Amino acid sequence: MTLNEKTNNYLPEQCAYAKRVQAILAERGVQNPQAHIVTFGCQQNVSDSERIKGMLLLCGYSLTEDITKADFILFNTCAVRGHAEDRVYGNVGATKKYKKANPNLLVSVCGCMAQQQSVADKFYKSYPYVDIVFGTQQHHRLPEFIYRRLTSKRVYELTLDNANIVEHVPISRDGTLKGWLPIMYGCNNFCTYCIVPYVRGRERSRDPQEIIKEATDMVNNGFKEIMLLGQNVNSYGKGESHGVNFAKLLRMINDIEGDFRIRFMTSHPKDCTEELLDTIRDCKKVERHIHLPFQSGSSKILKQMNRYYDREGYLKLIAAARERLPDVEFTSDIIVGFPGETYEDFCETLSLVKEVKFTSLFTFIYSPREGTPAAVMPDPISREEKGKWFDELLKTQDEISKELNLSLVGKTVRVLCEEKTSEGLICGKSEYYSSVCFEGSDDMIGNFVAVRIEKYHNNTLYGAVIN
Ligand code: SAH
Ligand code: SF4
Ligand code: F3S
Repeated sequence: MTLNEKTNNYLPEQCAYAKRVQAILAERGVQNPQAHIVTFGCQQNVSDSERIKGMLLLCGYSLTEDITKADFILFNTCAVRGHAEDRVYGNVGATKKYKKANPNLLVSVCGCMAQQQSVADKFYKSYPYVDIVFGTQQHHRLPEFIYRRLTSKRVYELTLDNANIVEHVPISRDGTLKGWLPIMYGCNNFCTYCIVPYVRGRERSRDPQEIIKEATDMVNNGFKEIMLLGQNVNSYGKGESHGVNFAKLLRMINDIEGDFRIRFMTSHPKDCTEELLDTIRDCKKVERHIHLPFQSGSSKILKQMNRYYDREGYLKLIAAARERLPDVEFTSDIIVGFPGETYEDFCETLSLVKEVKFTSLFTFIYSPREGTPAAVMPDPISREEKGKWFDELLKTQDEISKELNLSLVGKTVRVLCEEKTSEGLICGKSEYYSSVCFEGSDDMIGNFVAVRIEKYHNNTLYGAVIN
């Protein structure tokens, strides 16, 4: 893996720290230092980890998949559900034995879970072998943190500086075909169940020129798919003086020369405008897929979730999108068992799922998050009961997915070829959301090909290339 972005404008003081880290590691006889990064959570975290890797390369580390060989281990954590947090403690605990074997090893915990004061305190006090703890807005200072730890005490940095976006941080991207591009950070929505606004801070949009530059660099480096990231991309540019909203930004990226496609997530229904739908229709490079989480089909629950739309409003939005983009595919997120949700409320979620027919769903059982308003709301339904509702939802969606996939047979799609399977088939995603496999040659990988869908078998769509 190499650094695939220029680092010229990265903070000079951090570049100086990176050089000092290299010198100290050499002095201590650490030959070819290696770093192992473990990322939990959403695409935003994956994208942050690509920047963390970029800074580690600058400090002289190379990346390793083998944790036992590492001189630096970092966990970029997620706090969105209890389950995500539980996994991290076990993983961090396991590093104690690696430290015994390698006294030069540094261990770091960062990201959304570490941003919570009580969690950071726990790592700092109860895990003495964790060297560096930092929050979601301090990544760009990693060279400094490593330098400080190598020369002095353990590091603990949780400052949330909501006004600031640091640009030009070096990036080591995980892929060469599909890449993440964060357009904004943080969230202002405070859905009552959600920890993200507390751990990621206030919503901040990147300067459009920085985004265009990064997107152009990606296209020039051969990337064929750019995924624009934000907790609510539809509110991009709000409160900024440049006057570029998300629809305008999409048009600007669509105008970049080259054969590539644009995806984006996540869209909050309350900020999804007709202007945006018209833009998706007009921009050839923007894919015909909208990830539009609705969370619950019950207007009563949506109100308690603080989502700022109701069932009717959501369905109207779906209809408005389908009017402009008749074959658009929708995916969504759903929470089952929000505090106070009754079986009748849940049935409204089921009926909305049947009505809209999503290509696929990301479904979660409600997980109380300390410090959020929902965590103190009465929640009388047992976990077991919620589990039954959850299974009913999965079963309903399975039938819909099957029906939708079968209806695609005969359709021609444009597939970005991503990989060859063990059976020798080429697989990739269409301009919608579906994955398609077909017979083809290795030189197709990395390119777009037209494929006619022929059958749906064992949850997979199969097709044939059209010349
Ligand atoms: N910003 C995005 C989603 C971020 S979190 C949006 O607004 O849609 C991803 C998903 O995790 C959410 O859409 C929600 O469905 C789920 N989620 C968030 N908090 C949760 C909680 N406390 N319990 C269960 N699921 C949760
Ligand atoms: Fe969480 Fe709601 Fe913000 Fe999404 S929009 S990150 S669900 S608070
Ligand atoms: Fe998790 Fe943070 Fe993303 S809480 S879902 S990693 S924004």
